[in-house]
Amino acid sequence: MLSPADSPAPEWLVVPDDVNDLATAVWPASAARDGDGVLTLAGIPATSLAQTYGTPLLVIDEDQVRDRARAFRSAFDRAAGENGTTAQVYYAGKAFLCTSVARWVVDEGLCIDVCTGGELEVALAAGVAPASLGFHGNNKSVAELERAVEVGIGTIIVDSAIEIERLAAIVARTDSVQRVLVRVISGVHAETHEFLATAHEDQKFGFPLAEAEEAVARIREIDGLDFAGLHCHIGSQIFGVAGFRESASRVLELHASLLEGGPVPSLNLGGGFGIAYTRVDDPTPIETLAAEIVSAVAEGCAARGIPMPALSFEPGRAIVGAAGVTLYEVGTTKDVELGSGMVRRYLSVDGGMSDNARPALYGAQFSARLASRSGIGAPQLSRVVGKHCESGDIVVEHEYLPDDVAPGDLLAVPSTGAYCASLASNYNHVPRPPIVAVRDGRSTVIVRGESIADILSRDAGIPSADAERL
Ligand code: LLP
Repeated sequence: MLSPADSPAPEWLVVPDDVNDLATAVWPASAARDGDGVLTLAGIPATSLAQTYGTPLLVIDEDQVRDRARAFRSAFDRAAGENGTTAQVYYAGKAFLCTSVARWVVDEGLCIDVCTGGELEVALAAGVAPASLGFHGNNKSVAELERAVEVGIGTIIVDSAIEIERLAAIVARTDSVQRVLVRVISGVHAETHEFLATAHEDQKFGFPLAEAEEAVARIREIDGLDFAGLHCHIGSQIFGVAGFRESASRVLELHASLLEGGPVPSLNLGGGFGIAYTRVDDPTPIETLAAEIVSAVAEGCAARGIPMPALSFEPGRAIVGAAGVTLYEVGTTKDVELGSGMVRRYLSVDGGMSDNARPALYGAQFSARLASRSGIGAPQLSRVVGKHCESGDIVVEHEYLPDDVAPGDLLAVPSTGAYCASLASNYNHVPRPPIVAVRDGRSTVIVRGESIADILSRDAGIPSADAERL
């Protein structure tokens, strides 16, 4: 008899009553099964998406992105209004940026946070007003800063003393005035359920609280720099409000002392709001988070007798994460005997760590469902793996899937909207998949897939018309 401790399934993974069900938290609201048991997204069968665009395929539910953007905006608007201030929501483009997504979120009233010259160009190409962009990064080059100032970017989040001097030279040369925030490290680290508070942090972003006052004093000396406040981001995939509260309280201490030297009109508390990747993840609803974080700031301001600043936030994952579903085709299956009669079934799909690096990079968990039909078999402990030449190339480490899954079936992995396409690579010369938006029964390519020819075109050793010209 096996004890639970011997089981190859992790404790959190429950055997589903229905191995074809779609747990609401991890799928876009439009996900359903049609009369034949085929997964549909925005009313389109996964089988027709796969037939039209091939696999792997990243499908983004446009309404889901728009709904989440609206939900964030209205939750923070309400919470800020109730506490006598305003709140702006910046979509953190690093989660997944292309011109279509940029237009959707701006349409829903969000600003955008970019963190490289490349992301800046995507937002500009989408026609986003430069004034509604924020620019992050610990190593923005002079060229990137010049471009940002030249286009009239709304805010630059300053990350180092060297960057202040670079900006001082640029604004002097171009005779411009640039709004800046100063990024500080509050010493609070938050990951999922826990947070860790330290006095000193050994990391690359921002200014330690103790050094920020000097940085702000220097900015205030420079005519072309308009100091607008502090910025702090404590981590990603955070559940609950305790970490945000602790961090806000530490940052407000500095904010209050900076008020003695001049105005400090705003405060940006970053992003990091967690989402569900498996059915056991239970993120706090955004309405609760917004209300509690904003009232924590209001309490902190009241306690110090200072006015409430204008607030901003930078969610990335929580806007696009649950809107993405990756479709793969199963190529091979293999049963691995684990001893004592236990078997793990390996299902190899036609993508992997090149389109979703998160399991390999962070040990991230995902879930999966059979998409091309409903399974008829019993739940079988399975591991979905990619086609890369690496044993850590795992897509879904632990999942119960019907034991009749076979080569040619489609699998769908939900919650792949954030940090999957944006972290994609060409490892093993595997082309990156197309990205398709779905809405109201229609699908549109928003990012073209790569071909092998695209990949070969960068190899300077292959004679081609382009190579001749070089
Ligand atoms: N603001 C700043 C300054 C950030 O550094 C980040 C994320 C965000 C906002 C957005 O955080 P979000 O709301 O998306 O959690 N690749 C990792 C996540 C890296 C997050 C980097 N910074 C992952 O796949 O889990």
